[in-house]
Amino acid sequence: MNAAEQIASKQNAGYRAAGMVEDGMVVGLGTGSTVFFAMERLGERIAEDGLCIAGVPTSYQAAIRARQYGIPLTSLDEHPKLDIAIDGADQIDPGLVLIKGRGAALLREKCVCDAAKKVLIVVDGTKMVETLDALVPVEVLPFASAPVFQRLALLGGSPIVREAVKKDGPVVTDNGNFILDCDFGAVPDPRALEAAIASIPGALECGLFTAYGEKIMVIVGEEKGCRVVSLR
Ligand code: 5RP
Repeated sequence: MNAAEQIASKQNAGYRAAGMVEDGMVVGLGTGSTVFFAMERLGERIAEDGLCIAGVPTSYQAAIRARQYGIPLTSLDEHPKLDIAIDGADQIDPGLVLIKGRGAALLREKCVCDAAKKVLIVVDGTKMVETLDALVPVEVLPFASAPVFQRLALLGGSPIVREAVKKDGPVVTDNGNFILDCDFGAVPDPRALEAAIASIPGALECGLFTAYGEKIMVIVGEEKGCRVVSLR
């Protein structure tokens, strides 16, 4: 897939997801380049058709972009349950287990995914794999980053502190934490790995999303159109 085809695929996926949002909904707004297209289309629907929605952003990036597109914002405090969420992913397996977190927004993204009744995952076809093998990001409390690092190494994750670009030192997430990128190679049992990481004090969340397959609908953008994948 060349760059132009990839952009067209992302746009088709994002626009399809935006078309599934209904008047009055509270919408989780994920982070990343594919969700931008969904937000762009939602902004058009608000301006042109008077669509009335509110969005819960998963990052500063999502909040800034939503404001640019004229999407009113709210919070999980106001709306602990969301009608729908739209988000991207880095890899998706046939059981609709996701790896997320390239953009370091995984902690809030998982909170929003958990709060949503339905989750639309928008991707291009390069994200669909038979077995997950991408880096698994782990958001870590800085206070405990050294012991968490050791525990992730013992699990076989070969952790690396994610380094910032245009800032010296580590990436600091929107929540004030660090990211450890872990290379487990192929992940044949993502549920067991997510549970093992969750058992480490100071490992606040990881990018494996194993519990949401039943409510996820994956919209795979193609150069012309989309295909939809769900477990139902
Ligand atoms: C951010 C994420 C993104 O949703 C994921 O990286 C996909 O991004 P893109 O649509 O730009 O490929 O998990 O933390």
